[in-house]
Amino acid sequence: MDAIRIGIIGASGRGRMARHWHNENRKRSKVVAAMDISEESLDEFKANINSNAYVTKDLDDLLSRKDVDAVAIFSPDFCHEEQVVAAFEAGKDVFCEKPMAITTQGCDRMLRAWKASGKKFMIGHNMRYMPFVRTMKEIIDSGVIGEVKTVWCRHFINYGARWYFHDWHANRKNTTSLLLQKGAHDIDVIHWLAGGYSKSVTGFGGLDYYGGDKDNSLRCPECPERTECVEVQLDIEPARRHMCVFRKEVDVEDNNMILMNLDNGVRVSYLQCHFSPDAGRNYTFIGTEGRLENHNEEKCIKVLTRRSDSWREYTDRTYNIKPTVGSHGGADPLIAEDFLDLIINGQSHIASPFAARMAVATGCAGAESIRQDGGRVDVPEIPGDILA
Ligand SMILES: NC(=O)c1ccc[n+]([C@@H]2O[C@H](COP(=O)([O-])OP(=O)(O)OC[C@H]3O[C@@H](n4cnc5c(N)ncnc54)[C@H](O)[C@@H]3O)[C@@H](O)[C@H]2O)c1
Repeated sequence: MDAIRIGIIGASGRGRMARHWHNENRKRSKVVAAMDISEESLDEFKANINSNAYVTKDLDDLLSRKDVDAVAIFSPDFCHEEQVVAAFEAGKDVFCEKPMAITTQGCDRMLRAWKASGKKFMIGHNMRYMPFVRTMKEIIDSGVIGEVKTVWCRHFINYGARWYFHDWHANRKNTTSLLLQKGAHDIDVIHWLAGGYSKSVTGFGGLDYYGGDKDNSLRCPECPERTECVEVQLDIEPARRHMCVFRKEVDVEDNNMILMNLDNGVRVSYLQCHFSPDAGRNYTFIGTEGRLENHNEEKCIKVLTRRSDSWREYTDRTYNIKPTVGSHGGADPLIAEDFLDLIINGQSHIASPFAARMAVATGCAGAESIRQDGGRVDVPEIPGDILA
């Protein structure tokens, strides 16, 4: 079979994922084109991915090309809805980064466009491909901790300045909330492993560290406080350091705590903080027969099934996760291959657009609850016409 010809939308940043679909040894895919609004990003793409690729700043120009079979979308979150709908209308298979969109309605529009097109669709929920997540799922599915009843996930982020507060991520109009931009990963993992979708959500959160006091024109390289400021970033890409993290325009919460009621009766807490000194995700699943928890970040899973006074001493089983190759704990090369399997074999895949929609819908409901001081918000189900 001929190699699948992929066009990249959003050529730099996360768009560097393109390398997994293009190199001289690959037979199944090649990256033949890219679209980006930035000349610099397109130059970087040509230099690092494919110097012979067609590049354009015009989405319709890319989508109208007959030599592009599929597109992979790595643009900022607020672009996904329009670009995915346009891609399906142009008859392309689509890979789109998470979060699927910044509103639940936007996701439903994308799902309808997908159904109408008959093409293939995958969302970049690469955490589903991480070995530590797969191992937790296998342990739960084996029944060793019984029926899962409660889950909590503590998510510590110490790279808030590096990734989220210097640029577009820090504004609600672009992301809705970091419960989507960052939390969609965890909400999706929790839904997947606990075997249900959120039905209702309540939460508290706020903006307690970033934002608040500085003029929007301050940029780290020119800022008079750059030698003292702990959040200054001079070594990151220019695009990521163009605004001060303390600018008054920042309006996404930097800590989000939500409780989720799943449709199968499982209760979940998800706690996210962006100004922690350390980084990591700590998941705990408690079932009727025991509990599991990831330890040492993502390097091992521990399970306890006996009543015990001490978790450390009496953990029954430890599952060490083998070191992986590739970015995001080895997940990126795997999800890239799975997208090709989906197109070539129609193989069902684990990063489902329906689940991605439910992660967004839950994040939106969480943000709504936080912004109305903890009121309970129901998560809208996927409309029947989409599921039919
Ligand atoms: N799955 C993961 O692990 C993971 C990791 C990082 C980012 N992401 C996702 O990838 C997406 C991009 O994030 P990023 O941090 O790389 O963003 P970014 O700001 O670096 O932008 C990526 C690229 O998109 C381009 N771009 C901006 N507006 C565009 C438009 N309207 N049309 C086409 N291109 C446009 C930018 O010029 C840049 O080259 C986000 O949705 C993010 O959530 C996912």
